[in-house]
Amino acid sequence: MKPGNTPLEELRRLAPPGTRLFAKLEWFNPTGSIKDRPAWYMFRNAVEDGKLRPGQPIIEATSGNTGIGLARLAIIHGHPMVICLPRSATEERKQLLRAYGAELIEVEGGPNDAIAHARELVDAGEGHMLYQYGNRWNVYAHFFGTSQEILTGWPLTEPPTHLFAAYGTGGTLTGNSRALVRVWPHLRIHSVEPYVDDPIGGMRSQDDPFQPPVADLSLVTDRHEVGVATATAMVAETMKTEGLFVGTSSGAILHAAVDTLSREGGTAVALLPDAGWKYLSGPPWS
Ligand SMILES: Cc1ncc(COP(=O)(O)O)c(C=O)c1O
Repeated sequence: MKPGNTPLEELRRLAPPGTRLFAKLEWFNPTGSIKDRPAWYMFRNAVEDGKLRPGQPIIEATSGNTGIGLARLAIIHGHPMVICLPRSATEERKQLLRAYGAELIEVEGGPNDAIAHARELVDAGEGHMLYQYGNRWNVYAHFFGTSQEILTGWPLTEPPTHLFAAYGTGGTLTGNSRALVRVWPHLRIHSVEPYVDDPIGGMRSQDDPFQPPVADLSLVTDRHEVGVATATAMVAETMKTEGLFVGTSSGAILHAAVDTLSREGGTAVALLPDAGWKYLSGPPWS
């Protein structure tokens, strides 16, 4: 099953009066997140290029969603899957990765330490790393996939004025901004980020010392920093108003979108990376 063709839904109750807000519901992908897209493109390309040999272990550093997407492909195509992740990742994420048959290597520290450990394993000849932070197919997944679906699925005659997406590896922002600004040159591109000392799973601040080589934020026009408490308050609000069970990064994105629309008006697209299942042990649900 190829990822993509996710719904673009209008959020009529969450949008401030006189504005329109459309959300791309990325949890409709095969393993429940936007990361099924880059996982599929990176995997297919590595096989076609002969970089990933039959049966060779796949090693990846990921706090969850990319690993889950890759683990599914590893099952289907017969590769062992090794995931390096911070010990602090939520128990739901670890359980889910184990359910998908992955071997987990828990690393002290944050995502950057997980990346360093995965590199060591690859250098020791333990397997092949698709390395989402530097893999151009991470960007192409959105350039050829997500953005094209937004263009063909856009229901209004006037183009949207704003696009909101989380910054993690930068794949989503880079691929979508490059494709969409060609067609809609006045589209404002909003990067939604956590504060460095208040992390949100899957997201990264532009102030973090490690900036993924694959990220090109030159088309980003606006930057929003959102705290965990604000993001989770919006997760609860989205459930209450729209009956949508979104993940924490989606809460941060929707906060930035609603805040901007209420100040400036307009029409927005928000890319919502995943649903709330993996976050049930954290706020606002526990
Ligand atoms: C939950 C979640 N939100 C946002 C992102 C950021 O997406 P990207 O890596 O394309 O920048 C990710 C990426 O892993 C994610 O898992």
